[in-house]
Amino acid sequence: MKKSADDFDFFDPEVIESPHEFYQVLRQQAPVYQLPGTNIFMLSRYEDVRRAAKDTATFSNDFMHVLKGPDPSPEAAEIYASGYEPVDTLLTMDPPRHKVYRSLINKVFSAKRVEKMRPYMEQIVDELIDAFIDRGECEFVHDFATPLPVYVIADQLGVPREDLRRIKAWSDAFASRLGGMASAVEEVENARLIVEYQHYMAKVVEDRRANPRDDMISDLVNIEIEDGRKMNMQEAISMIEQLLVAGNETTTSALSGGLLSLIQLSDQMHTLRDDPAMIDNAVEEILRLESPSAGLWRVVTRDTQINGISIPKDSLLMLRYASANRDERVFDDPEQMDVCRKNADDHIAFGYGTHFCPGAFLGRKEMQVAYTKLLQRLTNIRLAEGKNDLTHWPNVVLRGLKELHITFDPVDVTAA
Ligand code: HEM
Repeated sequence: MKKSADDFDFFDPEVIESPHEFYQVLRQQAPVYQLPGTNIFMLSRYEDVRRAAKDTATFSNDFMHVLKGPDPSPEAAEIYASGYEPVDTLLTMDPPRHKVYRSLINKVFSAKRVEKMRPYMEQIVDELIDAFIDRGECEFVHDFATPLPVYVIADQLGVPREDLRRIKAWSDAFASRLGGMASAVEEVENARLIVEYQHYMAKVVEDRRANPRDDMISDLVNIEIEDGRKMNMQEAISMIEQLLVAGNETTTSALSGGLLSLIQLSDQMHTLRDDPAMIDNAVEEILRLESPSAGLWRVVTRDTQINGISIPKDSLLMLRYASANRDERVFDDPEQMDVCRKNADDHIAFGYGTHFCPGAFLGRKEMQVAYTKLLQRLTNIRLAEGKNDLTHWPNVVLRGLKELHITFDPVDVTAA
């Protein structure tokens, strides 16, 4: 029997794990779908998502209360009280105020700065591969896809490498809070880590104000924003938090999910080995299919309609990027990976409009460098037998593989 949208529960862990049939049904039958028993409306079609992302007056990013999740337990609340009160910046702001922070991030994140980073990224990628290549196997998420973006952003932020494990733990805690599915014990642990992050960053910010260096934090905290003033501590902490969370989990997930698809579809892997010039296009196709930021929230500011469906003021709108990127109206045979797809870069995995990802250039570059080196140095890459369940983190906003155990043969460079 043909399924309908109500046959799926969006919050069901099984649907979160394998959501694509649900998305297909939504796109066909209920492109503006109110999740039963909630005030959440989900947009699943490409054009609807783009139009809503452009209309910042009706669909606001002022969703801090959603980011914070449900009210914390008394134990978690007490921990949060010992940190810095969160304030809105960038992602959780609308125009015109959004521009104050966005111009700052654009200055700090200039294409020139990112362009200069390629040799340094290649060096990090080589070091990571060096650490496991002789074993002939690795857990790719842990050994490669996680440290690469963390190293890059930590170095750019000017945080010493010995603190990298902590950075990863903090960014996981933010992602877990954002995902809204943490257990009571995890919620308290998340609060502890988030407050630890705040105090750590406050020290770094103070230090960079006093002793600026050539790194992003120094620029961020010393550039004047409006009225000739610099960001205050809460604003600085919020901005740096966004760079950590937005950049780490997403790039990790794109890297791992992409490699899994290439392993499963060996013809696609062969195409890239035969013609490495296709890697840049493959990265776009991987971003389209993986859409690690699977969806983002908007708050509805006035009674409105989309495609004839009424949406009341104060509802939540979910822009489902992961579904929009498989919309058959835009992409032929959309569930299929095709690294040569002509319009792969029409995807909106980095969002669209005002909040379009400022890290897109950086994320893409990391992926391009990573796949180029991996294919140069490893061959016969396959799934390690008996070790993979290929499940994803339970998270309604971010999607990423938990683990990816692979085996491979090192490429014999002397044979070339
Ligand atoms: C594959 C990697 C990445 C993906 C898929 C991704 C995805 C996204 C998406 C979908 C948005 C739009 C959010 C919205 O619609 O409200 C966004 C915004 C953002 N991203 Fe990324 N991102 C990635 C990498 C990065 C990196 C490397 C950084 C920085 C280090 C970064 C920093 C940000 C920030 C700060 C915003 C908020 C921008 C604003 O509100 O104006 N992202 N990202």
